[in-house]
Amino acid sequence: MARERHDPVTGQMTTGHEWNGIEELDTPIPRVALFFLVTTALFALGYWILMPAWPLGVTYTRGLLGFDQREVVTRQVDEAAAARANWVERVMALDYAEIRADAALMEIVNEAGHALFGDNCAVCHGTAGTGGPGFPDLAAGAWLWGGDAGTIHETIRVGINSGHDETRMSQMMAFGRDGVLERDEVRAVAAYVRSLSGQDLSATEAARRGAGEEIFAENCASCHGEDATGMVELGAPNLADDVWIYGGDAQSVQASIHGGRQGHMPHWEGRLKPLDLKVLALYVGSLAAGGAGGEE
Ligand code: HEC
Ligand code: HEC
Repeated sequence: MARERHDPVTGQMTTGHEWNGIEELDTPIPRVALFFLVTTALFALGYWILMPAWPLGVTYTRGLLGFDQREVVTRQVDEAAAARANWVERVMALDYAEIRADAALMEIVNEAGHALFGDNCAVCHGTAGTGGPGFPDLAAGAWLWGGDAGTIHETIRVGINSGHDETRMSQMMAFGRDGVLERDEVRAVAAYVRSLSGQDLSATEAARRGAGEEIFAENCASCHGEDATGMVELGAPNLADDVWIYGGDAQSVQASIHGGRQGHMPHWEGRLKPLDLKVLALYVGSLAAGGAGGEE
């Protein structure tokens, strides 16, 4: 019944099926497909024998290799707990320099510090600690109170102008509003301050700068220093660098001098554990590492 024959064009046998004069070629399955079929079948067989595979009611085929993911996970959890207990003890026992010298420990500290910072500090200082108007950039290496870990620890512990008994206190008085300086004097000293960080002055500012320098020496140097590089004993910022808390443009600098400034940094003693304070001090210190801060 079947009319098997060679197809004259391809030379293949035909299956003998024919529909409306079109005949089906009897092409064999390509070898490569067979190869993969056999390989995957063998792999599956090998896997069933070696690894846990088939459920058998209450138990399962365990495989010759005896591999058990539950055991692996249990071991990993135990190891992690041991490592954690261990790092907490070490951070509490070692001093800052010793902790810094231990790169593996610092990695854990910075990870924990990043999480603590995100939960408690980022609302004001930003996720990366770079601050914003009114909130200092902790990564700039320009410190109000000092950037070594011990000093940062103290700042975090007691806060600045906070409710803590030992709070750090600082205030920049309102020279303009309280009538200590005339409006023109505020503008003049603002121009002088802006020139210190190498900013471009307008022509009017440039003309006032000289008078501003004298006003500065009389009214400002006592806190900001004669060279205006600040005083960490008073929490008075460096005015000669390009890092600003409230802004370095003419309007912001005049506003700082006219109305004064007093930032409030909450205290964290009692709210965070001693371990967390120490971790944060190290973490904040390393935000600015490479800058002026972060060293012992
Ligand atoms: C409510 C806002 C706020 C929160 C929350 C806050 N800070 Fe501050 N922080 C400030 C302000 C404002 C200042 C600057 C105070 C000033 O201008 O005198 C400051 C200053 C600091 C300083 C001093 C920097 C220097 O230059 O000496 C450090 C360090 C610091 N904060 C760390 C932290 C850490 C760590 C946390 C989280 C545990 C935190 N802050 C949470 C507002 C905040
Ligand atoms: C009693 C000490 C004191 C005196 C005097 C003083 N300052 Fe300040 N000044 C500070 C402190 C402290 C801050 C930081 C305030 C803060 O961040 O809460 C500050 C901040 C500033 C800022 C803002 C800096 C920034 O990063 O945004 C400017 C500008 C400034 N002072 C200029 C002056 C000028 C100009 C004078 C003199 C007319 C002066 N200060 C006198 C203590 C003082």
